[in-house]
Parts: sequence; C-alpha cells; structure tokens
Amino acid sequence: MMAEPAYRIVDRLRIDEAAEINQLIRDLRATPATIEPKYFYDELGCALYGAICQLDEYYPTRTERAIFQANRAEIAAAMGQVDTFVDVGAGDCCKALSWLPYIEPKRYLAIDIAAPSLDTALTKMAPEFPGTEMLGLATDFSKKLDIPPELLAGRSLLFYPGSSIGNFTPDRAVDFLSQMRRYATGGLLIGVDAKKSKARLDAAYDDALGVTSAFNLNALRHINRVIGSNFDEKKWRHIGQYNEVHGRIEMHLEATESQDVDIDGMVRRYEQGERIHSENSYKYSEAEFSAMLRQAGFADVTVWTNEAKAFWVFYAV
Ligand code: AVJ
Repeated sequence: MMAEPAYRIVDRLRIDEAAEINQLIRDLRATPATIEPKYFYDELGCALYGAICQLDEYYPTRTERAIFQANRAEIAAAMGQVDTFVDVGAGDCCKALSWLPYIEPKRYLAIDIAAPSLDTALTKMAPEFPGTEMLGLATDFSKKLDIPPELLAGRSLLFYPGSSIGNFTPDRAVDFLSQMRRYATGGLLIGVDAKKSKARLDAAYDDALGVTSAFNLNALRHINRVIGSNFDEKKWRHIGQYNEVHGRIEMHLEATESQDVDIDGMVRRYEQGERIHSENSYKYSEAEFSAMLRQAGFADVTVWTNEAKAFWVFYAV
C-alpha cells in the first residue's frame, strides 16, 4: 500500500512572475533605486535570517517568544476554538510550532514566498502532528493576500508574528490588515515591534558579527540569479539605521565606488555613495498600532507585552 502524502503544497509563485521581474528591473534602474525586501529570502537569505534571530542584538524574535510563553493560556483562551491555523510568512514554521499543541487545529496552512523553506518545515512537522492536516501555500503576498478559499475550513485564525508588518508603510499596513481580516473569521494574532531608543534599534539592525550585513548584501546575489545582472557585493556596504522622523529602521546598500551594472541588457551607473533602499521596518507605539487595527475593521483588540514594553502581541477580532 502507498503511504498517504503527509502534506501538500500549492505553488502559486509562477502567477505574476514576469510582472515581478519587470518591477524589480524598474526599481533597480530608478533613482533612488530600491529593492523589495522579499528579495532577501532565497535559501541562503532564509538561513541568514534564522541566524539574525539568534543574535544578542536582535531582540524581536526572542522577546515575542517570551511574551507568547508567559501568556500562552490566556492568549489561547482569547482565540478560542481554531479550525484552520493560517501562518502568514511562515518561513521555517518555528513560531507556529509552539502554538500547535495548544490550539490543536484541524488544519495548519503555512504561507510563504520561500517554497524550499515550506517543504523542509512541513516534512519535519507532519509526523509530529498526525491529527492536523498540513498544507503549504507558496505565494508572494506582498501586493495582495490571495488565499484559495478551499484551503480554509471552519474558523480561521491568521498568525502574523515577528513584526513582519513593519515592512509595509503605515498606509499599506492598514490595507494588508484589512486583507487579512477578510479571511480571519477566528481573528488575527500579530506581533509588532515597539518604538525604542535609537541606540538599541541601530544595534539590532547593524550587529557586530555582520550577519545583518551579509543578509542585506545577499539580496544582490539573489537578484543576479533572478535577472542575470552582475552586481558585485564587494562594491557595496550595509547600512541599517533607525530614522526617528519616520519611526522606522531603514536598510540600504551603499556603493563604495562608482560602477556600471548590467541590468537586463542596459547599463545602470551607480555613483560612489549612492544607495539602494532595501528595507523599511516600522516601529509602533501601542496606541498607534491599536488604531491601525481598528481602522482595518477589527472591533476587539487585546494586547500583551513584556516588562520593558519592547514588543507587542495583539489579538484582534
Ligand atoms: C522579517 C521583516 C521582521 O524587520 O526586523 C531583520 C527583517 N531585516 N534584520 C525585521 C530584518 C534586518 C525583519 N522582519
């Protein structure tokens, strides 16, 4: 007898591939040039992000984990019964892992742009949760969250941890929250990084070991593979700094010398000191983010934090 597949992955990555590549080329040719943060997450980039989460300087992941651990029963009670646990930007699925034994959903749906990560994680997880149907959805949700309705069953909880919402500008974050709300019949559990001192934030995004620098520079290697460009990462340096006016971390790649780069058959000259903006990571006060959740249509908002109020965990329904 053939064994049943332990999990199933729906691959939607091909859908807008050509449009995404054209966008990337336009963004790199533009002045100022930009890179969308999704280009961090090739296989090496996912591993480097995993390493970032272990750095002493990078507090968000472990602070969020501590808030989850300290309030597990209370948060689980607030969420109530969950049929489908939807992990938005699941990555290695580590964060969901700690919730599954408490929630015992009928179905776990992991959504991520990095298909290989989903594969690895679900292979490992499926035998550990025989009572839960394991599904993966490989898709780019950065423009629009599109979940095929047949993948959702019963009461769905959306899980969006790690302050990934910080990559959106506040306007687009509210829009993304509204999109999640349409699917979140069982509410939204979301982690959001808090505003704090510039010194602490700068250290978290420009660590002493240079892991965040490697993470940022690796986007150039990934892009070279995607569009056949010839960026030389040795001619760029990492910038990661808190912009207090905008309340956001900004990551840039700065040209250490003037250079010509071939981008899809056209030469783009980057001058020494010119920057490519590769990421924003917005930080919010409790009041700011509660207001955004309400704007997105959530009526009932509960928040948990730690002693230092370094990070927020919101449940909104
Ligand atoms: C994955 C978007 C939550 O903004 O803190 C970590 C990405 N960039 N270090 C963040 C990131 C540099 C991270 N998020």
